Amino acid sequence: MFAHNPFSELASLIPPAAMKTYVIVMFLLVIGGTILDVIHKKSAKYFFENAEKSKKNRVRELGGGDKFSIMIQTLLVDIMTSAEFCNPTRRLAHLMKMYGFITFIVTTIILIFGYADGGEAPGLATFLWHLSALAVTVGGAIFWFSLRVDVASEGRSLFPLVRADIFIVSLMGTTGFGLLWSLTSNMVLFALFLLSSTVLFSTVFWSKFAHMFFKPAAAYQKRVTKADGSRENLPETGDLSDPELQKRFPDIPEYMGSTPPDMGRGIKREKPRHY
Ligand code: HEM
Repeated sequence: MFAHNPFSELASLIPPAAMKTYVIVMFLLVIGGTILDVIHKKSAKYFFENAEKSKKNRVRELGGGDKFSIMIQTLLVDIMTSAEFCNPTRRLAHLMKMYGFITFIVTTIILIFGYADGGEAPGLATFLWHLSALAVTVGGAIFWFSLRVDVASEGRSLFPLVRADIFIVSLMGTTGFGLLWSLTSNMVLFALFLLSSTVLFSTVFWSKFAHMFFKPAAAYQKRVTKADGSRENLPETGDLSDPELQKRFPDIPEYMGSTPPDMGRGIKREKPRHY
């Protein structure tokens, strides 16, 4: 079922050169949107100023080896396993969207640039194109239907769309309509696929798209501030059950009991569904 290359079938209607041009234009729009986003939000300026500021507060000097190890940890933990998500369902949904989207982009490029104008595409590439489209759509739907905070915690309706929805809706539209078009060859579905992907790649400036480039840098910087002790200028909590710390702050047991680390789940005790 997932064995055909939908783009080589499309070649009878749309010349492969037009498909390739479209992909290149979308790529340029992503680069342009990201650069405009960086300039507009001044995020790079803030990032470097903040890193400079935290240098003054650091208590340890990190060597090249430390930084390399932090980089590897960021890659393996924060990026590759989406470890920033505490909610396991949200984490799983993010992994499906992230790996799915990367695979979808790579296989789309292979199928269009390598095989749209003829030749049999490798079965693995066509299979992964369909599977990754399915993974992004399902991961996106899990987020969209059950995890979004205004829907899950504030009980709002699913349907009024706001600007913050551009990324997730156009992402799901691209993979979902792409998959349905490939399975049915219906040209209305193809038009919706094209519309969604154009919105996805042309709205980077207004959407959350560029977080996939910024978040890794932020996760790295967060680890650096912990390792060099600058901690974003926040105090180190320490081990609250440590007698030395309790001697310095004798009111800890009074407020937190004699076994502070076992204070319970706090605000995580129950789901925020009080609407
Ligand atoms: C192909 C790449 C990626 C795609 C398609 C993607 C997709 C998404 C989507 C749809 C959301 C909103 C849903 C939610 O919050 O659960 C999201 C949020 C998030 N993503 Fe990604 N992501 C990608 C890469 C990354 C990378 C590389 C990182 C970080 C290292 C990252 C970190 C985050 C974080 C921390 C959030 C939640 C915080 C926020 O809303 O700003 N993502 N991502």
